[in-house]
Amino acid sequence: MSDSAVKLRCLKSGELYSANTASFYSEHGGLFEVAIDFENVPSFEEFDQRLVSRAAIDRSGVWRFRELVLPIPENRMFCRGEGNTNLYEHEDLNQFALNARVQLKHEGENPTGSFKDRGMTTAISMAKHLGYKAVACASTGNTSASMASYARMAGLLPIVLIPDGKISSGKLSQALAYGALTLQVQGNFDDALSAVQKVCSEQGIYLMNSLNPYRIEGQKAILIEALQQRGWLVPDWIVLPGGNLGNTSAVGKALREMLELELIDKIPRIAVIQAAGANPFFKMLRDGDDQLVPMQPETFATAIRIGNPVSWGKASRIMQECRGVVLDLDEQQIAEAKWEIDRCGIGAEPASCCTLGGIRKLRELGHMQSGADVLGILTGHLLKDPDANLSVHTELESRKSSAPIKVSAEPQAILDMIHNHLNL
Ligand code: F0G
Repeated sequence: MSDSAVKLRCLKSGELYSANTASFYSEHGGLFEVAIDFENVPSFEEFDQRLVSRAAIDRSGVWRFRELVLPIPENRMFCRGEGNTNLYEHEDLNQFALNARVQLKHEGENPTGSFKDRGMTTAISMAKHLGYKAVACASTGNTSASMASYARMAGLLPIVLIPDGKISSGKLSQALAYGALTLQVQGNFDDALSAVQKVCSEQGIYLMNSLNPYRIEGQKAILIEALQQRGWLVPDWIVLPGGNLGNTSAVGKALREMLELELIDKIPRIAVIQAAGANPFFKMLRDGDDQLVPMQPETFATAIRIGNPVSWGKASRIMQECRGVVLDLDEQQIAEAKWEIDRCGIGAEPASCCTLGGIRKLRELGHMQSGADVLGILTGHLLKDPDANLSVHTELESRKSSAPIKVSAEPQAILDMIHNHLNL
């Protein structure tokens, strides 16, 4: 694979730039996306053969698809076995989703517990290649945990900006454990993102938010790997949560490229699910606006507590190409979906659970047919947000509480309690 297969394209003018351009915007003010001159793309059979290979880049669920994801020279691919996440099915999920046929791809099974690792392996590979010594991001938590880990493993200094007091303890503790310089910014995620962009451009630090087009390339592999697990069968729908909308852009780009390469012959519909307290993209599409109106975000799904998503332009294009639907869920609906996913034994952090709640709402509103084949994406691990687990499973009034019950150490007292509870 050669350097020349990868370029950056300005989304405003369409002009091509070198892959090594450090800025994320062209001089025309347009955001860059990666433009790949696809060569020697293996057949599905050849991709499948890599599943039994012992080579690190074949075992990675991102670099296994390197010709489609980011065809840079192999010695520049920095990986730590990301991806290879499971697809789950459960009859209770189908019932909750009012008879849609649901498969959930659990991206919380990545090395640092979220889908961010897929974009991080590609963006850190570029950071090393471009000679940066430090990388930075603003984050609601998962990007910072992932970046801190990958940066340390690659020998780079991680700097993270987080919204003051609004990130879950699981994620904050990861950034601290990996030794990121962690700055709690007085403001929300959107304020932190605007600050970190300026800091990076002035200090020669590489920005790792999804404005970085190389992040998007790695995240394409969520879709590609899911198709491989499904025997390359395209689902009817893909459903995922939307915050900054980088992931929506990534899934859509992967579909567009695979269709152009005639690897697939149809495009599924996409549904993006936001929290009602952080739903600027939902409102924009509902009202038929051509500009996004930023808002003050609030939701217990802190990962998607974002009021001014940077990738709304890219995501709008995807919505048109994929006959997309954007819905929003109130806090109760997110909590109900989380209860269900957790009780199936799968478990996920709150933002992820918008996926299942969204599928149910798509059925309720008649967008989705009964029996539809749905690929849902769970974005983060259950343990990312221990406080949310405690509150949903002990305080959700509509569901049975699983709060711990005090009992004496007498075996008979314990047996009585079990009998009472399980009606044995
Ligand atoms: N789900 C989880 C668990 C997330 O952490 C995020 C984003 C999203 C969904 C939304 O993805 O932004 O691509 O639309 N988290 C970012 C972060 C913002 O900083 O960790 P998106």
